[in-house]
Parts: sequence; structure tokens; C-alpha cells
Amino acid sequence: MQIHFFSTLSSTMDKARELARNNAPHFSVVVAEEQVKGRGRLNRVWLSDKGGLWFTVILRPILPPNLAFQVNFCASLSIAKILKGKYGLDVSVKWPNDILIRDKELVNSNEIFTNKKIAGLLSEMETSGDKVAFINIGIGINVNNDVNNSTKIERLKATSIRNILNKDISKMDLLSSFLDEFEKQIVAIESESISCIALIEEWKQMTSTIGKKVRIETFDGFYEGIAIDVEQTGALLIRDDFGTEKSIIYGDCFYK
Ligand code: BTN
Repeated sequence: MQIHFFSTLSSTMDKARELARNNAPHFSVVVAEEQVKGRGRLNRVWLSDKGGLWFTVILRPILPPNLAFQVNFCASLSIAKILKGKYGLDVSVKWPNDILIRDKELVNSNEIFTNKKIAGLLSEMETSGDKVAFINIGIGINVNNDVNNSTKIERLKATSIRNILNKDISKMDLLSSFLDEFEKQIVAIESESISCIALIEEWKQMTSTIGKKVRIETFDGFYEGIAIDVEQTGALLIRDDFGTEKSIIYGDCFYK
């Protein structure tokens, strides 16, 4: 495994793409202390100050392109397992691949629980003929950055490990635990010792999405309804107020 460290990058996605196009091997990792043009899904800006863990893993999995979506589920599951198992955080996964933390807040002297985003995932794939050339999995985890210093809107929606545990943790420990777990998962799906159905089932055990009223934003509009399942293809199945079901393969999900 090769790990490339940078103090500042525009985005680890850009550097990883450049390295991947220049034949960087499977499981090369690009890490930046800060990103000045960090990006999220649906072309959103991803704030990437020092203190967070911002990295991209270059993968060349032995999988056909139609099964490559599994690596996203492996990645979010691996992050969730580590945040729960190693740091004891009350974590869930939100479709498609966000990691949330259940956080307690005092509102008008009442304790309320809200799900706040602690990590997000962005993937980019290039194919060569009918094969996957590479899949770059970009992961942003709010670790020792202070989301409490951000705007009120961001505070309501996001949190960091520091904000939850009231202390800093080692980003290197977190990264290496994640990479170990993620590598195991990738080997398991490549060798089919975990089937696609089993992977999605395991992911569903950790999701807070199913049963929620959701709004799904896509590149060409939005859909609202109750999230009723995540299918074997990774698509989210929602049912609207009229009982019509729709399967959505890509988008961003908001709990209502
Ligand atoms: C999302 O939730 O919208 C995805 C966020 C992905 C952020 C990470 S940080 C490392 C990598 N580099 C980027 O520019 N984006 C991803």
C-alpha cells in the first residue's frame, strides 16, 4: 500500500485521478492536511480545513463495472464499523454513503437527538472497454476540526469526532484502522466470500434511512417519500404519498 501525504491540495480526488491515470497501483492512498477545492457529491463544495481527515483511495478491483458500486458500500460500512467499534460513537449510515452520528442537544432546556453528518464519500470511476480501470473513493471525515465554530446551519447538520468526544484523536490511527477494514472488505467482495446480497444486508443493519421520510436530490430534480428498502443494486426504493414506488440509483438524501 502506497500512501502519498500532502499538506495542501486542491482536492485529493484531482491528485488521485492524475496518479491513477499514471498507473498508480491498487490501494494507493492520497491524503491532504487541507483541501482548497474539496468537493462533495452533486458538485457541492466540501469544506476541508486542517484537522479533518481528507483522503482518496485508488482501487483497481477485480469486479465488472456493474458490480463496482459495492466498493462504496464497503467503504461506508468500514467507516461506520471503525467509528462505532474503536471510538464508541453512536453511528448510522445514510443512503447512499454518508455517516451520521446521533447527537444530543439542548433546545429550550429540552434534550433532543438529531442525526448529524460526520463523514461523506465521493467516488469516481473510469472504465477501459468493459473493465474497471480504477475507482477512486474519496472520503472526508470531520475529526479534529471544530464544526461548532461553523455557521449555525452547518452546526445543525454536521459534527466532528472532537465535537462529540471533546478531545482530539490520532488521524493516523483512524486512517490505518479504516484501511485495514476496507481492504478486508474489498478482498471479500472480489473473492465473493461476501455476496452482494450479504453486503447490502450488513449495510442495512447499520442504516437509519429505511423507514424515514426522505427527500432525494438528483442531477435532474428531486423525489420525496418514505424510504422502504435498499435493493441489491444499491438503489434506494421510496414510496410516495400516492403509493407509487421509485427506485433511485444516484442522489443525495435528506431526512425530513
Ligand atoms: C459528500 O458527502 O458530498 C462527499 C464528500 C467527500 C469529501 C471527500 S474529502 C476527500 C475527497 N476529496 C474531495 O474533494 N472530496 C472527497
